[in-house]
Amino acid sequence: MSQLTIALTKGRILQETLPLLAAAGIEPLEDISKSRKLTFETSSQNVRLLILRGVDVPTYVEFGAADVGVSGKDTLIEHNSNSYYEPLDLQIAKCRMMTAGIVGKPVKPGRIRVATKYVNLAKRYYAEQGRQVDVIKLYGAMELAPIMNLCDEIVDIVDTGNTLKANGLEARDKIADISSRLIVNKASMKMKHCEIEALIDAIGSAVSERN
Ligand code: PRP
Repeated sequence: MSQLTIALTKGRILQETLPLLAAAGIEPLEDISKSRKLTFETSSQNVRLLILRGVDVPTYVEFGAADVGVSGKDTLIEHNSNSYYEPLDLQIAKCRMMTAGIVGKPVKPGRIRVATKYVNLAKRYYAEQGRQVDVIKLYGAMELAPIMNLCDEIVDIVDTGNTLKANGLEARDKIADISSRLIVNKASMKMKHCEIEALIDAIGSAVSERN
């Protein structure tokens, strides 16, 4: 049996991924949350887990450093690559990619400034809308940017809407529904077909049962 390496996104996605993996018979041999390690052996002898920052998961899978990955659709849209397969919607970590601005402040006509972590996604979205924008890259706390006049709108993920509300912002347009996806390296899909098909089936069943 070939060894399978699965790259997981740490944080909230990880917490929701682990029960799906467990239902598919894959459990880390140590408590991931209590360790500084980045790789973990599992109860399934041929499966190893990597714990990565979300933005790095598509890169590991694209280059075959991991066979399989779990990544938010937001990250995949931003990464914008067709160099891996995306066979399964895990239906976890669901949220929406939205534009947002200051409550009640009308949208300015003409060119606007947009702050976001998702620069490629935002550029594509506003271009499709025929809107001229200057996109400013930020790494967090996007909700502060309109208030401090750094930008007119932000593009960010919205779940409960509490963060927007707490900062005097409102959601405007929905760009995409987001959830986490299983992605697979193209060469691995060929070379380790049996193992990966079995993994996709097992996790797919866990997703169906959960819903
Ligand atoms: C995300 C996002 C918002 C918040 C939205 O940040 O950037 O700030 O969650 O959630 P809500 O609608 O339920 O309030 P996250 O907590 O993932 O941290 P991050 O800024 O590090 O991405």
